[in-house]
Amino acid sequence: MSVNDPVIDEQTPAADYTIEQRWERYTDDEHAVWDTLYRRQTEMLPGRAVEEFMLGLDKLDLGSGGIPDLRVINPKLEALTGWSVVMVPHLVPDDVFFDHLANRRFPAGRFIRKPDQLDYLEEPDIFHDIFGHVPMLTLPTFADYMQAYGRGGQRAQSLGRLKELARLYWYTVEFGLIEQAGDLRIYGAGIVSSAGETPYSLTSDKARRLRFDLERVMRTEYRIDDFQRLYFVIDSFEQLLGATQQDFGPIYERFARDATAYGIEAEAEGDVSVEV
Ligand code: PHE
Ligand code: FE
Repeated sequence: MSVNDPVIDEQTPAADYTIEQRWERYTDDEHAVWDTLYRRQTEMLPGRAVEEFMLGLDKLDLGSGGIPDLRVINPKLEALTGWSVVMVPHLVPDDVFFDHLANRRFPAGRFIRKPDQLDYLEEPDIFHDIFGHVPMLTLPTFADYMQAYGRGGQRAQSLGRLKELARLYWYTVEFGLIEQAGDLRIYGAGIVSSAGETPYSLTSDKARRLRFDLERVMRTEYRIDDFQRLYFVIDSFEQLLGATQQDFGPIYERFARDATAYGIEAEAEGDVSVEV
């Protein structure tokens, strides 16, 4: 896996896979890619992204120009919710990822996409990871959910149920929508960091939007190669945290007996999910 970043290649990662950001080594061109992406997304997000996300961008001052320096944003994030961002060279193994989350550390890639890759990425870069994920970590309820997910991941792994748990992450943290007082908004990192999927997720008639139902989410496949065909909509972050505080043991037992999943268009027989 190569992302063409010499500052990654020159380092030997620590046991927890972290590396140093070495912020002063980013080039002007790399900072310019961040600025372009930042401007593009913040032009279309007001009224589309959930208010908490927009506030998070401000609280962390992510638009102050260029790629954020962890030495600047981490003290702010730590003061707000006790989370911090750590740098990793590329995707990390599941157990390492869960251990970071369980300890309120969010692993982010160091590299940034090239100017000719603004819309297409094979693996998450620092724009997706920091712009997409970190603003929501300023919200205490969401911060608690992410930590609980890390602990839940360790447990799911030991029970062989990672596939189902990963769908929960996908349909909430990455591609989640929320509806408050009839107003549909985005909070998922995979959407807010994508110029194409931002308007598509809210209005396209190629996609379905279903009310969040924990077990249903964990039984629904997803696609990684194109915009989603299906989104799940929560009412509040308290609802999300509340639904996931229950013991997943009985749910995992049902999966162990019957792991049937809905396809990516979720057109299964007897589907009673509520359309938003
Ligand atoms: N409650 C889950 C369990 O018992 C843990 C979890 C919390 C999973 C939050 C995901 C999100 O396994
Ligand atoms: Fe992500």
